[in-house]
This record gives sequence, structure tokens and C-alpha cells, in this order.
Amino acid sequence: MLNEIKKLAEKLTPRLIEIRRHLHAHPELSGQEHQTSAYVAGVLSSCGLNVLEAVGKTGVIGELVGTNQDQRILAIRTDMDALPIQENAQIKFASQNPGVMHACGHDVHTTLGLGTAMILSQLTDTLPGTMRFLFQPAEEIAQGAKWMVADGAINNVNAIYGVHVFPSISAKTVGIRYGALTASADDLEIIIQGESGHGARPHQAIDAIWIAAQVITGLQQAISRTQNPLHPIVLSIGKIEGGRAANVIADQVRMTGTVRSLHLESHAQLPAWIANIVEGICQTYGAKCQVNYQRGVPSVQNDYELTKILESSSREAWGDGLIEIIADPSLGAEDFSVYLDDIPGCMFRLGVGKINGKNYPLHHPNFEVDESAIFTGVVTLAYASWQYYQA
Ligand code: NI
Repeated sequence: MLNEIKKLAEKLTPRLIEIRRHLHAHPELSGQEHQTSAYVAGVLSSCGLNVLEAVGKTGVIGELVGTNQDQRILAIRTDMDALPIQENAQIKFASQNPGVMHACGHDVHTTLGLGTAMILSQLTDTLPGTMRFLFQPAEEIAQGAKWMVADGAINNVNAIYGVHVFPSISAKTVGIRYGALTASADDLEIIIQGESGHGARPHQAIDAIWIAAQVITGLQQAISRTQNPLHPIVLSIGKIEGGRAANVIADQVRMTGTVRSLHLESHAQLPAWIANIVEGICQTYGAKCQVNYQRGVPSVQNDYELTKILESSSREAWGDGLIEIIADPSLGAEDFSVYLDDIPGCMFRLGVGKINGKNYPLHHPNFEVDESAIFTGVVTLAYASWQYYQA
């Protein structure tokens, strides 16, 4: 089967590169993927898949029914949205939409979803189960997966695979990680209410700026002294505002930040833990406070069995030299984790780095991919899907 998949992928590659370049030239922002989803639906229909449009607002689902010997449904999720970035890459198929760019490789992801569907659509006579391809919108604003799930995109689905391109991994290499791949990302807002006064007479006021400084320092110290250092937490205050004049003590400070973690138990206790520290400090100095903790996306936790299937099928397809077991998870976030709240899944990294060349990072206006990764990506996804039904 591996050779059959490779042969089909080889034949399809020129078409897939054409698709990828079309998507790259016509990027659309999160939640506005109208042309992209219409294009995706067209390709899926032409391969004989059952297509559902407007799932999760601008998402698309394509379903491919095999021989039904196996009742399970395996999903493959790819995302379709682009970023508000002006493209600077010197390529012929650069973005035609000013200020919008596929700088996170979601054009490649969409192509991989389509390519895998195209390959498996030619093997339905021997495909034991059902494949469901999710083309998700709005990953960059961490909303698309929620919209898809709310619209029933993973109803009856047993397992899900996802992929993200990675420029610091060489093209043709598959990056695999067991357990945590990305962090949870939550939003934090703290409002400290003190009392205004003359800058010369601090004892007659409650200085919200000084208390805010204590809160920021206190939180960072508390992470180092009260949290398990093997379960990392990153808390970054990115915005702070308060005060009106150099000689007037500020009565209010508002700050906002992001909180990241990799460990499920640490994550669960974060809201209460942070509120407790902030309230303790504010109370000590007579200020009032409000702590708003907003859960964003959870951490991507790769399922052991699905990761094992991916690893063994990839090793068989590419040899050990092109498999990279990723040492460290990322503290970035990825809303693929939203599906994992309900079903087991595994996301891997597809190397798109230029071998011996310069690699710009994701979200960079010069970001480029080595397109040879598309062949690697579709074969990896198609063969892992095949092996899923053998396990
Ligand atoms: Ni991305």
C-alpha cells in the first residue's frame, strides 16, 4: 500500500503545487475564507467526496466512505486562514491581497488535506473505514476549531490527525512528539483600584502603579517558588496602563497578559492561584482588584497510540534519518487542542525548511516553504490514515 500511495502522490504533486500556489496568491483572513472554502469544496467534489459547506462559518467538510468493514471514522484537520501581514517574499505567486499573507503555511496545510483526500479517493475499494477531512477556518484567532465542533464536525469521529509546517525542520523531515506539543494559552486582565493623591504625599494615597509593580514581581516570583519547575508556566504582562501626571499618584492600573502552560493539572489551578496572589498583594496595601481569567485554547496533548501509528508508518515511509523526535514542546498555541477535548488526536510537524538555506520563521513577511515537503506531507498523512485502520 505504501508504494501505491507514493505513486499516486508522485503523479499528483504537480497539481498539488499548483493548488498550493493558487491558495498562496489568494490568502484570506480568519473567518473570511469564502473563496478558499469554495475552492476547497470544488476540489473535494471533483474527487467524489461528500461535501458539506459552511460548517463552522467558513469551514468545509469532505467525507470519504470506504468499504465500511471498519465502522470507525478518522478525521484529518487542516486550517485555511492567512494573516494580516504584507508579503515580502520574492516569489511569482506572492499574495495578490494587499496586507494579507499565508505566513503560517496554512496554504500548505489546506493543500495537504486536499492531496490526502485525492489519494485516498482512489483507494476507496480497499479503505476499510471512513475518512472525514476538516478544512477549518480562523485558526489564527483561536476560534475556528470551536466553530467546527459546535457545528458537529467531529460527531461520531474516533480519532483526528493534524499537521503544521515548521521552517526550522528541514524539508522532507517529519517531526513527531509524544505528549504535549503546544501550550495552553489564556488571557489575563488585572485591574487594580487604589486612591489618587499628591505625588509628594504617598501615605495619603493608595498608589496603584506601585502595587501593580508588586503584583507583577510577586506573580513571577510565585511561579518560581510555588509551581513545580518541571511543569512550566509562562506569564507575560504585555500591556499596562494607568496614571495621568508625573506628580499625581495613580488611582487605577489595568494590565493584560497571556498565560501559557503545558501541564493539565497546572493549567486547571491557574485562575484561582493567580487571583489569590493578586488579591493578597492588593489587600496588603489597601487596594481593590479585579482579576479576569479567560480560558483560550488548551495544550495540544498527543495521544500515545495515534502518535505511535504516525511514527511507525513515517519510519517505514521515509527511513529513520528523516524522522525527528521533537525534544521540546512549544509554548505557542494551536486550536487543534479543542478537538482533543473530545477525541484522541495527534498533530505532527512537517519540515519545510530549505536544506542549507535561510529559513524565515512562521509569521514573518519573508516566510517561504520548500515545496518538496508537500509530497512528504500527503504520503505521511495518507499512509498513517491507512495504518490507523490496520491497528
Ligand atoms: Ni499556523
